Amino acid sequence: MNIFHEWGFTETPFKTHPLPADENGKALLVNRKNEIKQLKKSLSSSSNLVTIEGDNGVGKTSLVNIAVYEMFDDYLRTGVGPLFIPCDARFQLSADIEPEDFIDEVLMAVAQTLLKRGKELKDRGFYLENGGAIIKWLNSPLINGYSGSVNIVKHLGFGVGTTQQANPGAGFLKSGFKTTVLNWLSDIFPPYESLDGGIVCILDNMELLQTSQIAREQIERFRDKVFAFTGLRWVLCGSMGIMRGVASSPRLHGRMNMPINLCGVDFKYAIDILLTRIKRFEIVEDKGYLPINCQEFEHLYKILHNNTRNALNYANNYCLDVSDSNLPLTNEEKRETFYKWLNYQSKEKIKAVMTLIKPRALEVFKQIIECNGELSPSDYDIFGFKNWPTMRRYISQLEVAGLVTSIIDESDKRRKTILVTAEGWFFNYSISLQ
Ligand SMILES: Nc1ncnc2c1ncn2[C@@H]1O[C@H](COP(=O)(O)OP(=O)(O)OP(=O)(O)O)[C@@H](O)[C@H]1O
Ligand SMILES: [Mg+2]
Repeated sequence: MNIFHEWGFTETPFKTHPLPADENGKALLVNRKNEIKQLKKSLSSSSNLVTIEGDNGVGKTSLVNIAVYEMFDDYLRTGVGPLFIPCDARFQLSADIEPEDFIDEVLMAVAQTLLKRGKELKDRGFYLENGGAIIKWLNSPLINGYSGSVNIVKHLGFGVGTTQQANPGAGFLKSGFKTTVLNWLSDIFPPYESLDGGIVCILDNMELLQTSQIAREQIERFRDKVFAFTGLRWVLCGSMGIMRGVASSPRLHGRMNMPINLCGVDFKYAIDILLTRIKRFEIVEDKGYLPINCQEFEHLYKILHNNTRNALNYANNYCLDVSDSNLPLTNEEKRETFYKWLNYQSKEKIKAVMTLIKPRALEVFKQIIECNGELSPSDYDIFGFKNWPTMRRYISQLEVAGLVTSIIDESDKRRKTILVTAEGWFFNYSISLQ
C-alpha cells in the first residue's frame, strides 16, 4: 500500500534519489542556474576531468545529470555540438578495484546508454553497428549475473535488424563486446574532431576512498586508461575536501579542473523544492493531500542545514508516521501535528545520543557547531586539547552516536575532514529546545 497514491500522488514527492537526466529531473531542479552554467563551461571548455566538491546530499549528482541532459537536448534540437550524453549509471571507485573490472563495468553502462539513445542518435545520423547483437548479448544468460539492469535494453525501442546482425551467442566474446562499444564511441566522438564531447560518466562519493592519497593513487592508475577513452568524459564528485586534495596532485595537474564548490540550495528556495514536487507528482492538479505545510518543510530544511536529501527524508518519515493516526486536515492541524512529531523525535534523539556520549564529547560537539559544523584534526588547540589523539577519543564517541562523520587524511591534517551529519544537525536542534 502506497500512502502517497492514496493521497493523490503518483509517488512520494519526497523521493531522495538524484534527479534523473531527463525532463522530469529538469523540472524538479531548483535554483541551480549559476552552477549549471559553471558545470557546462567546465565540461565544454577542456577535455579535463571535471570535479565537484560538496557535502553529501546537497545535489552534486542531480546537478551533473541535469546539466548534461540539457546539453544533450540542445544538441538534439540544434545539431550544433559538442555532443554530450548523460551516462545511465553512476560509478564508484573502491581502493581495491582493478582497472579491467572497472572498464568492463563502464563499457556495459556506456553500451546501455547508447542503445537507449539509439533512436535519437540515428535521427542525428549516428548508427550503432551491431546494436542488435549487443542487445542480445547483454540479455543472454551468459552475462545475466553481470549487471542487474541489463533488462532495460529490452524496452529501448531501438530498431534491431536481427537478420543482418552478428551472432551474439556464446561465441560473442567479451572482447567482441568491448571492441564494438569502443568503435561506437570513436564513430560518434571521432578523436580530434569532437575533442570535448562524450558520454558523461559520474564517479560518485570519492570520499569513500577515505584519504586524498588513496583517491589520487586510484585516479592516477586510471588516468591513462578509462579516463582517457575517446568519447568518455568524467565528473568526479566528493565531499569533505577530498576533491580539493586530489586536484592538487602534480601528476594530475593539467588533467583535472579545480573543483566546483557546491553548497546546499539556499534556504529561501526550500518551499520551491516542495512545491515543484507537489506539482510534478500530483495525479490531479491541486487535488493532492499532504499532512505537512510548506512552512514546516522550510523549518525542517533549516534545522537540517540546507541539506535537500535530509530534509526530504525527514519529511517522508513524518508523512509515514502520521499516516497511522487521524490525519490533520486544516493548516493549523497540520502545524500542530508536525510540531508534536518533531518534539517527540527530538526527545527520542536526545535520549538515544546521551547514552552514547560523555559530557565532554557533548561540549566538543557544541563547539563544532559553532565552527559551522566542520573542523580539521589540526584544530585541536582551538578546542582546548593538547594534541589530536586526545581530541580524537571524543570525535570517535560523536561518530558512534552518528553526530559527525570523519575521514582521516594523514597527508593533510588541515583538511576539514570532520563534519556534522544530518543527524548531528537534528541533535543540535533538539538540544536547543531544552
Ligand atoms: N537543486 C535541487 N532542487 C531540488 N531537489 C534537489 C536539488 N538538488 C538535489 N535535489 C534532491 O536532493 C537529493 C540529493 O541529491 P543528490 O543525490 O544529487 O546529492 P549528492 O550531493 O549527489 O549526494 P551524495 O553526496 O550522496 O552523492 C535528491 O533527492 C535530489 O532529488
Ligand atoms: Mg551523488
